[in-house]
Amino acid sequence: MRRLEGKIIAIAGGAGGIGSETSRRLASEGASVVVGDVDLASAEAVAAEIETAGGRAIACKVDIGEEADVKRLVAAAVETYGGLDGFHANAADFRRAVEDTDVVAMEIAVYDHIIHYNQRGFFLCTRYAVPELVKRGGGAMLYTSSGAAHAGEPVRPAYAMAKSALHALARHVASHWGKDGIRANVIAPGVVLHPKLEAAAGPQLAEWAIQQVKGTRLGVPLDIAAMAALLLSDEGGFITGQVISVDGGSTMRP
Ligand SMILES: NC(=O)c1ccc[n+]([C@@H]2O[C@H](COP(=O)([O-])OP(=O)(O)OC[C@H]3O[C@@H](n4cnc5c(N)ncnc54)[C@H](O)[C@@H]3O)[C@@H](O)[C@H]2O)c1
Repeated sequence: MRRLEGKIIAIAGGAGGIGSETSRRLASEGASVVVGDVDLASAEAVAAEIETAGGRAIACKVDIGEEADVKRLVAAAVETYGGLDGFHANAADFRRAVEDTDVVAMEIAVYDHIIHYNQRGFFLCTRYAVPELVKRGGGAMLYTSSGAAHAGEPVRPAYAMAKSALHALARHVASHWGKDGIRANVIAPGVVLHPKLEAAAGPQLAEWAIQQVKGTRLGVPLDIAAMAALLLSDEGGFITGQVISVDGGSTMRP
């Protein structure tokens, strides 16, 4: 499938487990991809892999906590490829995740840190991407949330709060700029295993996650990448303002 032929797409957090697979998928469907990540070496490796496979990609160092960096990511798409048709805000800062315990016990500095990157960072991505989409006569914003945003969990309240804020953000963008041809959607993954996550979480995570899914297998990055490609393509042209769970039925919502 070449549903993204001619499109220019930037991804923030494009070098991680889900992001690297998504970057590759978007490029394989014809997009010119700006692989943005705070981990520049990994972003460069992903971009090089795409180019070797015959696709188009550049790497860009971006810390979504820094306004100037987010501007630079959007500018890289415009300066290198001539504009922006899609933006996937996919990064996640997990540096203080283990301290995100409960709302009474956790330090407020931990809350501030997690919100700064995982909520405010997505606000910044939107703020600088949307005007470029408008200039092209339309485009798509895409956000990666998490089942944590609506499942209800005894731990990680700040992460869940940051993620659920993205749902409101997408609905705002879809409502405010819908008539400018802009769509905005959210993917809420369930547990999606990849080597980095497995190394961090250990085998207990997979054992727990397989109990949650209704099917026979756990999620893999390609599950998210495939949904991202659909939502960023014109085939997803009548889908906007939605939070789409890609989680093997771990959560089921009306
Ligand atoms: N893997 C899962 O089970 C799962 C489940 C639910 C939601 N998610 C969400 O999916 C997205 C991707 O997660 P993943 O599992 O691939 O994690 P990951 O850690 O492999 O990828 C996250 C990427 O974001 C980058 N990043 C971190 N801080 C950044 C910053 N300040 N600016 C720019 N880039 C930054 C990292 O370098 C990394 O490449 C995240 O938004 C995460 O919350 C993942």
